[in-house]
Amino acid sequence: MPDITQELEIEAAGKPRTVRESQSEYSEICLPNDTNALGTMLGGHVMHLVDLCGAIAAMRHARSTVVTASVDQMTFLHPVRLGELVRLRSQVNRVFRTSMEVGVKVWVENLQGGDIRHTSSAYLTFVALDPAGNRIVLPQIVPETDEEKRRFDQAAERRAYRLAFKDKTKTTPEN
Ligand SMILES: CC(C)(COP(=O)(O)OP(=O)(O)OC[C@H]1O[C@@H](n2cnc3c(N)ncnc32)[C@H](O)[C@@H]1OP(=O)(O)O)[C@@H](O)C(=O)NCCC(=O)NCCS
Repeated sequence: MPDITQELEIEAAGKPRTVRESQSEYSEICLPNDTNALGTMLGGHVMHLVDLCGAIAAMRHARSTVVTASVDQMTFLHPVRLGELVRLRSQVNRVFRTSMEVGVKVWVENLQGGDIRHTSSAYLTFVALDPAGNRIVLPQIVPETDEEKRRFDQAAERRAYRLAFKDKTKTTPEN
């Protein structure tokens, strides 16, 4: 299997799927190995979990391998303390052609006290690839609820922003 993306694009779009079919969950207890000197989870580890949970929703929709093309800005609202449970939920917001936007929301649950707090949200873009590394044209997504329709509409604006940003940050070996 080649280790780089190929130039080809495969026309494999199947029948549309609902947002609901992509909805995924992931959770993990904060262990000592994932913490800093204050005993709270490393931001990079939270980002890793966001990437994993996002990839699960993307793969459920694509039914293929996916790679992360971009991650939008992330904010950490509350620390995750040793022994607390990090809970993540993800779903595909919108499909473009070979890429899709996935939203991931993160909560922290204190298992002793039962307190649950929203700690982060992120939008990621995944691209679907076949085993040879060719991009795959994705099945369309069908938003059903008002909330899903709102996210679907707003995803187009976010895509325009991130693609403009991508063009601006392109560099050459000279600069
Ligand atoms: C992501 C990747 C497949 C895009 O390849 P590319 O040659 O730029 O291909 P294209 O320009 O045709 O883009 C393919 C799709 O990705 C989208 N895309 C590319 N870069 C993007 C970015 N920074 N943000 C959002 N979407 C992006 C394009 O808009 C296009 O979407 P569409 O088909 O739905 O319109 C390629 O850059 C890659 O393999 N990157 C490494 C991925 C990886 O390894 N991630 C793990 C972390 S290193």
